Amino acid sequence: MKLIIINGPNLNLLGKREPEVYGNTTFEDYFKQLQEKFPQAELEYYQSNIEGEIIGKIQEVGFDYDGIILNAAAYTHTSVGIGDAVKAVTTPVVEVHISNTHKREEYRHVSYISPGAKGVILGFGLQSYDLAIRSFLS
Ligand code: DQA
Repeated sequence: MKLIIINGPNLNLLGKREPEVYGNTTFEDYFKQLQEKFPQAELEYYQSNIEGEIIGKIQEVGFDYDGIILNAAAYTHTSVGIGDAVKAVTTPVVEVHISNTHKREEYRHVSYISPGAKGVILGFGLQSYDLAIRSFLS
């Protein structure tokens, strides 16, 4: 089971960025925990602050891998291009968010990813990623 987590802009700052919203853990540390927790999955991690690079990665893995776990971060609410890439590939995409975007500003209530996603998991903190991985394993 080959799975990739793709994180969008500013998620490289997890642990430092608005800890009251996103927590104190870096994604690198959390990713190690995920690898230990799910040895049966081949887990990969990719992060970019650049929209085109995220689209490129979705295209690169999206016909071979078993699953994509995508937190497009701010691009979730703006990117027709990432939304189209999610629809274009055959690998199922689970959209995740750390925070409950529906409890936040109105502009975060819209997602260009959801229409092409297999499912959406949000609001469970970093555990959202854990739940997304489980959705592919069960
Ligand atoms: C986020 C929510 C987005 O609205 C925000 O722009 C992010 C992170 C989340 O994981 O909660 O950068 O995707």
